[in-house]
Amino acid sequence: MTSPQAPLPWDQLAQAARAARERAYAPYSHFAVGAALLDEQGRIHVGCNVENAAYPQGLCAEAVALGQLVLSGGTRVLAALVVGEAAQPVTPCGGCRQKLREFAGDDMPVWSADLHGITARHTLGALLPASFGPDHLGES
Ligand code: THU
Repeated sequence: MTSPQAPLPWDQLAQAARAARERAYAPYSHFAVGAALLDEQGRIHVGCNVENAAYPQGLCAEAVALGQLVLSGGTRVLAALVVGEAAQPVTPCGGCRQKLREFAGDDMPVWSADLHGITARHTLGALLPASFGPDHLGES
C-alpha cells in the first residue's frame, strides 16, 4: 500500500510513459502518446495510443493504461502522467478524464510532460469539474 504521505515517483512515471510512447500505434494522426498511472499498491501501469483504420475505434494511451491497471488488480489511480510532443501540454481528452474519474477523486494529480520535462501540473478536479462519478450511483 502506498502511504498518502509518500512522495509521488514523478521521474519514474515520466520515464515509464516515455517508454510506452515509443510503442504507440498512430499511423493516422502520427501523434504518439504515452501514459503512466500509479496505483494504490505503488505500481506503475503504462499505455500508448492504439489507432484504428475505423478512426473512432482508436484507443487513447490513458485508456490502455487503465486497462492494464484493472487487469493487474489495481483499484485506485493515485497519480497520472501523460507524455506527448506538442506546442501545448498534452492533457487527457474529455473521455479519458471521465475514465480516470472512475478510479480517482478530484485531488488526483494529472501531470503532462514531453521528452524534455514536465509541461503542466493539473488535478483531475481542475480538468473535470463537478464530475459525475461512482458515488452518484451509490458506489465508491
Ligand atoms: N491521444 C491520447 O492517446 N491521449 C491523449 O491524452 C490525447 C490524445 C491520442 C488519440 C489519438 O490516437 C491521437 O492522440 C491524436 O488525437
